[in-house]
Amino acid sequence: MEYNRILITAALPYANGPVHIGHLAGCFLPADIYARYQRAQKRDVKFVCGSDEHGVPITIRAMKEHITPQDVVDKYHAIIKDSFEQMGISFDIYSRTSSSTHRETSQAFFKKLYDDGVFEERESDQYYDEETNTFLADRYIIGTCPVCSNDNAYGDQCEKCGSTLSSEQLINPRSALSSAPLVKRKTTHWYFPLDKYESWLREWIVDGKKDSWKPNVYGQCKSWIDSGLHPRAMTRDSSWGVPVPLPGADGKVLYVWFDAPIGYISATKDLTNQWSDYWCNDDTKLVHFIGKDNIVFHCIIFPAMLKAHGGFVLPDNVPANEFLNIEGQKVSTSRNWAVWVDEYVKDFPDQQDVLRYVLCSNAPETKDNDFTWKDFQDRTNNELVSVFGNFVNRAFVLMHKLCKGRMPALHADFMDDADRTLIEEIKNAKVKVETCLEGYKFRDGLFEVIDLARKGNKYMQDKQPWITIKSLETNPDSQKLVDNCLHLCLQLTANLAILANPFLPFTAKKMCGMMAVVDRMLQWENAGRMDLLKTNYPLKAPELLFKKIEDTDVAAQIEKLQNNLKQATANNNMETKTTEAEEPTAAPLPVQKSEISIDDFMKIDLRVGTILKAEKVEKADKLLKLELDMGNNELRTVVSGIALHFKPEDIIGKQVTVVANLAPRKMKGIESKGMILMAQNNDGKLIFVSPLETADSGSEVR
Ligand code: MF3
Ligand code: ZN
Repeated sequence: MEYNRILITAALPYANGPVHIGHLAGCFLPADIYARYQRAQKRDVKFVCGSDEHGVPITIRAMKEHITPQDVVDKYHAIIKDSFEQMGISFDIYSRTSSSTHRETSQAFFKKLYDDGVFEERESDQYYDEETNTFLADRYIIGTCPVCSNDNAYGDQCEKCGSTLSSEQLINPRSALSSAPLVKRKTTHWYFPLDKYESWLREWIVDGKKDSWKPNVYGQCKSWIDSGLHPRAMTRDSSWGVPVPLPGADGKVLYVWFDAPIGYISATKDLTNQWSDYWCNDDTKLVHFIGKDNIVFHCIIFPAMLKAHGGFVLPDNVPANEFLNIEGQKVSTSRNWAVWVDEYVKDFPDQQDVLRYVLCSNAPETKDNDFTWKDFQDRTNNELVSVFGNFVNRAFVLMHKLCKGRMPALHADFMDDADRTLIEEIKNAKVKVETCLEGYKFRDGLFEVIDLARKGNKYMQDKQPWITIKSLETNPDSQKLVDNCLHLCLQLTANLAILANPFLPFTAKKMCGMMAVVDRMLQWENAGRMDLLKTNYPLKAPELLFKKIEDTDVAAQIEKLQNNLKQATANNNMETKTTEAEEPTAAPLPVQKSEISIDDFMKIDLRVGTILKAEKVEKADKLLKLELDMGNNELRTVVSGIALHFKPEDIIGKQVTVVANLAPRKMKGIESKGMILMAQNNDGKLIFVSPLETADSGSEVR
């Protein structure tokens, strides 16, 4: 198939947190390398992305932080967009799914399927949390595992025994949001009949994509199709999302996996009036870059939706990557085990290409891979600095020293086999890198670039122009030999800039500056040429391309990871004890939190309170509602997760330490103003932190 346009998409990241390097390695970096390469080929390319701003995790985050979902997505959309810009991810547009274009586009899409009679309408019983007034997805339902009796199994999975579950199987299901026991309510939704597309999908993927899709992608699709496809609900009960565009569908929104991929279309609309050239022509090559957890949505569900709608191009390829672990452990946002991109660019200013290099050369293209800071240091210092940077730097320094700062001539009659071999290698490199990039083999492509630099180093080392020049007095041709060597090394440098440009765009740009050429030289058709730099042309002084990564940098980053983990663990435990009213399953580790200043500490208003009243909170077996005397005639209500440890009547009159200026929060509909401090023994027993002698209620603790 001859394509006339290329439409590249990268999975829309959820706007409920910043992006980490796993996201970059899995999807955005390969997509960017591909887009930059295709642009350098002067092909008609559009590269689109945006924030995925709907879905349950965003509403939950909003609930926890007492802000609106829109506040959540506004905050993270800005952070994510900035991270991508900093890292040189060259989207033609970075849009968002809370935009009006997107609402209209996804509603029109839904309406067309509805009008064509594609959906099946079905009523079902679903779990409902009366406390927060929400229908709950399986992930947000907790209960006892029917397999191993773990009390804290999720509705989709038990993390203790690993069983895959559905919320229907849980014993005593309760809400993860409020701990309320759940009730069943009837609700109606619109189902997309995936089963009706099974034979078409089998033909299109199983028969048609065997040789072109990556084995990990093809394999997942095939096993999905083989195990049978079923209708899937494309709507949800929620107040956050794209409203279902049907009369009487109040309180219903499009399922986030229905609307988000349509976000690729709305982003293209926001980018250009010619959007339909890209979406509605068969001579567009549509390529979705994603991580492996997105495969079924991009290879099965979205294509079936596009097919049902009609008039849209289908993906030519979906080069999904596997996952990148960090220092041997899975990335976990709740444990804060991740390397955040916004932090990297602060910690390593002007070293974006170093990260791009390491993430690409170690990309999880065929299996999960591990990122370690030691490996980051080794690859940077031993490959980027010692091979690539060193070669370019030596070529420039020697040219300034031995050729008066100008591009030396090539004297054809003084060339030898080594020179001719090098020229051959340069021409071959273009073909090799190109083949890798066309086949989505980005690691291999980058390896070829470094390998060419390695050959340049070897060539220079063998030629030793700094020795040759010493015989100038006895052999007047020495200058010509030196000229030839540096001429070839500098033409090689220009070629390296072109070949490295998709991977290391900041570096390629710097190199153009040193060579005093315009960026247009970086066009792909120029690769393999040996006349890129003109003889006698003055070149600039060399610039440092990459900085070495020091042992102290590595140590600092590892410490940061450890601290983040400790802090997150401590915070999670705090939440468990005081707000979520969940019993910790194991004794929490007594971890030391990171250092704070006295000013930080002084922000906390600690006071002695006296418990006047204590009573159980209805439908929450772990919560007690306390009335505290805070002095100065102030009475305060504090809800505390201590009901399993103390009988209400036993704690009346006790004095406790209260965090008095904690932002108020609602638990079970009761506003809690403050938090009481408890010590926790290794066996989980809770002990009041009280003054040893009776203090005045309301007195400050310092
Ligand atoms: N937000 C999803 C994720 O991070 C990806 C959505 S991709 C789209 O896993 F196609 F739906 F947009
Ligand atoms: Zn279990």
